[in-house]
Amino acid sequence: MRDITIALAKGRLAMQTLDLLEKSGITCDEIRDKETRKLIFVNPELGLRFFLSKTSDVPTYVEYGAADIGVVGSDTILEEGRKVLEVLDLNLGKCNMCVAGPASAAEDLANNKIRRVASKYPHIAREYFFENKHQTVEIIKLNGSVELAPIVGLSEVIVDIVETGSTLRANGLEVLETICPLSARVIVNEASMKLERERITKIINGLRDVLDAGKEE
Ligand code: PRP
Repeated sequence: MRDITIALAKGRLAMQTLDLLEKSGITCDEIRDKETRKLIFVNPELGLRFFLSKTSDVPTYVEYGAADIGVVGSDTILEEGRKVLEVLDLNLGKCNMCVAGPASAAEDLANNKIRRVASKYPHIAREYFFENKHQTVEIIKLNGSVELAPIVGLSEVIVDIVETGSTLRANGLEVLETICPLSARVIVNEASMKLERERITKIINGLRDVLDAGKEE
């Protein structure tokens, strides 16, 4: 029996996912050791293998079958556009993908007068402005602290994740349009789902049962 490999996005989401997996009876103590430099963790009794990767790489590992299962935010799934099966919403890390900027940009946004949009999510920004709003804008890719862009005049608005809204408020910006809600999802490799349907479905159903039990509490 080959191991089923699960890719987790490094950081808080990985730890939250491990909590859910543990409640469903799947454990891997080694992965919680903060000192370790190891990247792969195995639970031989369960025939499972886990690895932690950079968030944006999780859908890539799953598309190519290097991981059978992945857990990652829907922002990353949308941005990466990989061919994977999305099978379960974990309802973790809930937030929204938004167009944000100073209140003064609202009118230009409504009247198709925005010229530049900065984002860590250029694919999502392009899709929204070009396909949904039929507006031609220049998309500028940034790698973080995107809220800076409208303040220093790089762009009029940004496309970014808004969770509590405190980063926007602290910088005199606000949500101008909401693109879509986001949360952590379980994704599965298409071929793995055919070849290992029983074992993969068991893991997914275990997680679903934990989520359902949480709702009833
Ligand atoms: C994310 C996002 C916003 C912030 C939103 O940034 O890009 O900046 O969190 O959260 P809030 O609405 O609760 O304030 P992150 O912390 O990942 O840092 P980064 O911008 O440097 O990538």
